[in-house]
Amino acid sequence: MSTHPSAMPVRAMLVLGTRPEAIKLAPLARAMASGTQFEPIVVTTGQHREMLHQMLGLLGVDVRIALDVMRSRQQLSDLTARLVRELGEVMRGQRPDLVVVQGDTTTALAGALAAFYEKIPVAHIEAGLRTGVIDNPFPEELNRSLIGRMARWHFAPTAAAARHLTDEGVPAEQVFTTGNTVIDNLLWVLAEGTGTSAFRTGDKRILVTLHRRENQGERMRGMGRALRRLAGRGDVEIVLPLHMSPAVRDVLLPELGGHEGISLVEPLDYLDFAATLAECDLVLTDSGGIQEEAPSLSKPALVLRTTTERPEAVEVGAARLIGTDPDTIVSCAERLLDDPAEYRRMAGAGNPFGDGQAATRVLTQLAEDFAAEVPVGTATTGPYSAA
Ligand code: UD1
Ligand code: UDP
Repeated sequence: MSTHPSAMPVRAMLVLGTRPEAIKLAPLARAMASGTQFEPIVVTTGQHREMLHQMLGLLGVDVRIALDVMRSRQQLSDLTARLVRELGEVMRGQRPDLVVVQGDTTTALAGALAAFYEKIPVAHIEAGLRTGVIDNPFPEELNRSLIGRMARWHFAPTAAAARHLTDEGVPAEQVFTTGNTVIDNLLWVLAEGTGTSAFRTGDKRILVTLHRRENQGERMRGMGRALRRLAGRGDVEIVLPLHMSPAVRDVLLPELGGHEGISLVEPLDYLDFAATLAECDLVLTDSGGIQEEAPSLSKPALVLRTTTERPEAVEVGAARLIGTDPDTIVSCAERLLDDPAEYRRMAGAGNPFGDGQAATRVLTQLAEDFAAEVPVGTATTGPYSAA
């Protein structure tokens, strides 16, 4: 990378395609747009359609280029091929100084690969998450490892994530511990304070989300049965915003639709989701982002998966990784509903994922490196520490 003329803004292409990428890149897009050091070029791939578009405006993200790659029941290989081809064209046209990708989606993988082919340096936000099981979550564990091979800047949310990267041989001077930008965004949205909770009754409130590919099919049906048993207690209200994926809806709508005590709702926009999370008592989820948000609002989270790349919440006691067995789901949820001491222990465990300053740390580092003679310098911003 050549030295950047410091009078010119750094042209940063932010590539995003799914709901969580919009949420987690929004703090960077907002910070870039409000200063003079960067020119943000936001490219939406449209890997998600409704769930992406409902986010961008209210998160204050101005889109420069919108691709439209989504197909119903899209296959990973077709999606990946379309993304690499179309993003390659966009990058050749725009020639940004760097490309920023987030997380582990197909959009992030294709964004990094297209940039690599165009010889444009890549910054990876939320780098270094690993379960150590290459096909769980599928295909995200592979995606983030591959992005890690291509990125020049690795912005890790926690010290453990940073360690994974250095253990894999990434030079330490290219790894920066920043906290997770999801916390920046959550704090920003709660300060806006305009969302509406989806809970309606005064009963014990359980917020549920399910969408992971590993859970689709029979496993998800079993989780649905567990939710029916919990609702059958008569003292709980379950709100489940349905992912748009037909593979999720095909299972959950017949299993749970019209069932007393369970509200299946359309995906909530982020303001309403944050308000709903703030009002719930307990979270049951297979989502990555919600595992990070729940401890920030002191909500115990039961993670309905067999692996997690976010062990920090489990380690501090804010979350439990309970798997997908229906009996276990019911007993773990009931323990939290009925045992105030256990509830207080989890709710008070704290948030290990960030302090709301992650985007500032990322931009400070990038600005220093683009102003310097050498492309990647030593970190001069204080790293994020959960201690
Ligand atoms: C993807 C990400 C996953 C992330 C999740 C966030 C990959 C490999 N996986 O999941 O890491 O946790 O998004 O939600 O990138 N659909 C719509 N409208 C929408 C969104 C999706 O109709 O707004 C449909 C699509 O047509 C698709 C299906 O839902 O057939 C699933 O979408 P997809 O992006 O393929 O989801 P996942 O790969 O399961
Ligand atoms: N979310 C939302 N509305 C909803 C459900 C989730 O805004 O109805 C947000 C949630 O706050 C979190 C993100 O979407 O920040 C998580 O997205 P998802 O679970 O789809 O993906 P993952 O985090 O598992 O990759």
